[in-house]
Amino acid sequence: MAQEALAFDMYGTLVNPLRIGHQLEQYVGPDAQRASELWRQKQLEYTFRLTAMEQYENFEQVTRKALEYALLVTQHPLTDEQKQQLMAQYDDLEVFPDTIQGLERLQVAGHAMVVFSNGTPAMLSAILKNAQVERYMQNTIPQGYVSVDEIQVYKPAPGTYQLVANRLHRPLHEVRLISSNPFDIVGARSAGMQATWIDRSGGLFDTLGERPEMVVGSLVELAERLGA
Ligand code: LAC
Repeated sequence: MAQEALAFDMYGTLVNPLRIGHQLEQYVGPDAQRASELWRQKQLEYTFRLTAMEQYENFEQVTRKALEYALLVTQHPLTDEQKQQLMAQYDDLEVFPDTIQGLERLQVAGHAMVVFSNGTPAMLSAILKNAQVERYMQNTIPQGYVSVDEIQVYKPAPGTYQLVANRLHRPLHEVRLISSNPFDIVGARSAGMQATWIDRSGGLFDTLGERPEMVVGSLVELAERLGA
């Protein structure tokens, strides 16, 4: 099978932002799951709203403000130091169980691979290292990632997908986004990119756009589908 240019979403696709872990449990007890879900939802909502307003605050600022919101709703006023600890954990999120094996097989098959994310360069270089995915991404672009911070606009603005295609030196239709986030899949296809949905949510796609042709349950299955 042909070798492809694959652009991987980071949060929710390679690492799990909902597994913010023990630290959050220590601080907010049984509200940990709700707080982490609110944190993630609000983080994305703020990116969409900033894009609609044609404003930009970087993903670290957005993530911090979303955390403040989640703590307000769950009524856990944490200290600045505790919030800093949680933000630090965001650079050290756990990979999904299939991430490393899938990337390994895709790399052996010779696909061009890069991380393509809303995260800031500082967040992405930290997480690529900590999650040990850096080595799979560096054959194509030295730092291994393309950050929307370069153009200061968030996914799913079409310019973000164009940015990663430019960095890969390919036309949009020759790049495949790999993401578990339906909004990202719908955005990529709307911009003219191919897309594969990693279904990490039990089949629940959203209703704004159609499910893409290629839906897989894991990165290992993706490698199988792409002939690795
Ligand atoms: C990212 C968010 C959308 O990594 O998950 O870009």
